[in-house]
Amino acid sequence: MPAPLRIAVLASGRGSNLAALLDACERDALPAQCVLVASDKAGAGALRLAEATAIPTLVLDPRDYPDRAAFDHDLFAQLATATPDLLVLAGFMRIIDGGALAPWVGRMINIHPSLLPKYRGLHTHRRALAAGDAEHGASVHFVTAELDGGPVIAQARLPIHPQDDEESLATRLLALEHQLLPAVVREIAEGRIALVDHQMRRDDVPLDAPMQWRDGALHP
Ligand code: GRF
Repeated sequence: MPAPLRIAVLASGRGSNLAALLDACERDALPAQCVLVASDKAGAGALRLAEATAIPTLVLDPRDYPDRAAFDHDLFAQLATATPDLLVLAGFMRIIDGGALAPWVGRMINIHPSLLPKYRGLHTHRRALAAGDAEHGASVHFVTAELDGGPVIAQARLPIHPQDDEESLATRLLALEHQLLPAVVREIAEGRIALVDHQMRRDDVPLDAPMQWRDGALHP
């Protein structure tokens, strides 16, 4: 059996997606090991979760750095010392400097609560409701210098009901995120998905459109 994928998770908030990843590792549903949880917020719930499960943590305060690039370069340098195979942004609420992330392209993914390319950035649930969309969803994508703009690996969709508000939509979508993210990390851990020369490949075949999470599985 190949060695488990070493993942480092970056999170600014409560860490429910981190919890879903750890749970999948625990259940042997994900051949991965979380080697570090990093945050820009000392109060992040994700850090408490890591501490409770004895996972090393890293906290850096952006206010201690002269600018974004200085913070990001130090963050990635320190992350590298944990020798992760994959960086997972799970609610990491910062724009990352393009130069700092460049060496990690193809080895860093993000979960975003919209059906990208729709609604990059913040307030995605509110914007989907305001637009009168019939469906909403979440995307897991490779991170590139373009905010929420890297190649989308997979998406999960859900219908928007007439009685939905921002909170109900966020709650239902989060439950789907907790399935989607471990499923994508699993495919990366199994060596099935890769970004090669800006082209996504699955099982060595070009993946030209995001996979869809349906009935408990990813479908090309
Ligand atoms: C999720 O909705 C994720 O899609 C977005 O930030 C939120 C993080 O939630 N990027 P949590 O901290 O994992 O609970």
